[in-house]
Amino acid sequence: MAEVIVVSSRQAAGALVAEAIERLVATKPDAVLGLATGDTPLPVYRALAERVQAGLDLSGVRGFALDEYVGIALDHPESYHSVIDREVVRPLGLTPSAVHVPDGRPLGIETAGERYETAIVAAGGIDLQLLGIGTDGHIGFNEPGSSFASLTRVKTLTRQTRDDNARFFDSVDDVPVHSITQGLGTILRAKRLVLLAFGAGKAHAVAAAVEGPLTASVPASAIQLHPRATVVVDEEAASML
Ligand code: GLP
Repeated sequence: MAEVIVVSSRQAAGALVAEAIERLVATKPDAVLGLATGDTPLPVYRALAERVQAGLDLSGVRGFALDEYVGIALDHPESYHSVIDREVVRPLGLTPSAVHVPDGRPLGIETAGERYETAIVAAGGIDLQLLGIGTDGHIGFNEPGSSFASLTRVKTLTRQTRDDNARFFDSVDDVPVHSITQGLGTILRAKRLVLLAFGAGKAHAVAAAVEGPLTASVPASAIQLHPRATVVVDEEAASML
């Protein structure tokens, strides 16, 4: 079972995970981070940015984003290329060429997953993978029904996920229908997993992921298979555990 840490606030979660990343980088300055998007990991990135301002050097750190929308313009403010650049690369002083995001452009999309897997392997694998969780139990964009062995590939977003992510767009109709995401198999290959969740809206998904049966219906339940998975939640997200 995953280790569960209940914290008093998002800020406390951010500090805790930033501390773990700082320790990792102290022993491995070119550590490979798996980077999640969405609101959830923002406290981690903010806490790390403060440490960088105080002198922490993350310029050697490499990164692989979990996922990207398919067919969105790279310079769209809500493409994960833009989000990772804005929320992670710049504030943390990472080297832009060392941070990778799946290529969701239609041209070459059929080989984009394989290319991403090759790049992760060439980097020596992901040392620490940050994860959020969707209200339907997805991690990355691995929607319910995803194989536990899946690698980076194109997935169709559920209506629930498109509704959840509509807040980043003008309307739900503007939310892309497809994504390219690291698979559950890709995620399980990371050396360490840290899943964060905050708020009552995530309580059901967290309980199903941590204590429910291993099932493709709850993709996040795959973390139970990982020997080093930590779940960091606030009281509300932990309320159904
Ligand atoms: C998005 C992302 C996931 C993220 C999840 C939760 O769809 N693809 O990686 O974990 O939704 O988002 P949030 O953290 O904003 O609740």
